[in-house]
Amino acid sequence: MVHEIMDAAWAAWYDLYVGTYEEDTEYFIREAVQADGSVLEVGCGTGRLTIPLLQRGVEVVGFDPLPAMLERLQAKAAAAGVVPNVSCQSMETFRSDERFALILAPFRVFNHVLTQAAQRAALENIRRHLAPGGRLILATFVPDPELIANATNVLQYMSTVGNPDTGRAVVCTQFNAEIDVLNQVRTDVWVYEELDAEQRITRKVHLPLRIRWVHPTEMGLLLELAGFNQFQVYGGFAGEPLEESSREQVWIARAEA
Ligand SMILES: C[S@@+](CC[C@H](N)C(=O)[O-])C[C@H]1O[C@@H](n2cnc3c(N)ncnc32)[C@H](O)[C@@H]1O
Repeated sequence: MVHEIMDAAWAAWYDLYVGTYEEDTEYFIREAVQADGSVLEVGCGTGRLTIPLLQRGVEVVGFDPLPAMLERLQAKAAAAGVVPNVSCQSMETFRSDERFALILAPFRVFNHVLTQAAQRAALENIRRHLAPGGRLILATFVPDPELIANATNVLQYMSTVGNPDTGRAVVCTQFNAEIDVLNQVRTDVWVYEELDAEQRITRKVHLPLRIRWVHPTEMGLLLELAGFNQFQVYGGFAGEPLEESSREQVWIARAEA
């Protein structure tokens, strides 16, 4: 089983660019608060969702395969005054004696599993950890043709953010290093440049990120093959229909006896 995780250095830089993404937060909190039992978050990362869930009283368990992400989560949780229950595991192979009323696979976590076979195994494993009547909510992006057609090695400016650890500005750019059309895997390199007050670069890191894109039709088949027999898909977090213009695919899946 091919399994490749993000570079450990990502943990330090992850929150700078994506840690502030909030489009899905209230949706996942609402679903988790209403869940009839405990909640599992797969690929909890640095706790972008885990910590608000804990703050809202949700009994959430999480895991991530990257120890550095979990260390950052622990530090953020301590600062927020909550105690996380997290472990170092991957969705293809994780084990828990608990059966969950709700399993969350938010924010492209699923795309980090890099082969179709491994994605199917991950879904099967998730299904085995659902309590009777339990649900999986999985959010991924709708693959944009540009994702595949993008010129390689052209730097694309993403944003400039303040690094709270250093007080310095960080410029985030990204380039597409490789497209593997047959396996639906795209490798990007994220470039973070930290600047001093005179705009001189004081630090520069290159971080590779590899994801496997999944079309909605394939996602439905993967869920079915993994033993889910009831599912709906939405085009966003407000229950909107999935349409050509949708950017998100939000799947809610059950395996009823
Ligand atoms: C885009 S981040 C999302 C993190 C967090 N859920 C959030 O919403 O901010 C993807 C996370 O998936 C984790 N990941 C990568 N491969 C994984 C796997 N096989 N199983 C579970 N998590 C994985 C990464 O380490 C990373 O923390």
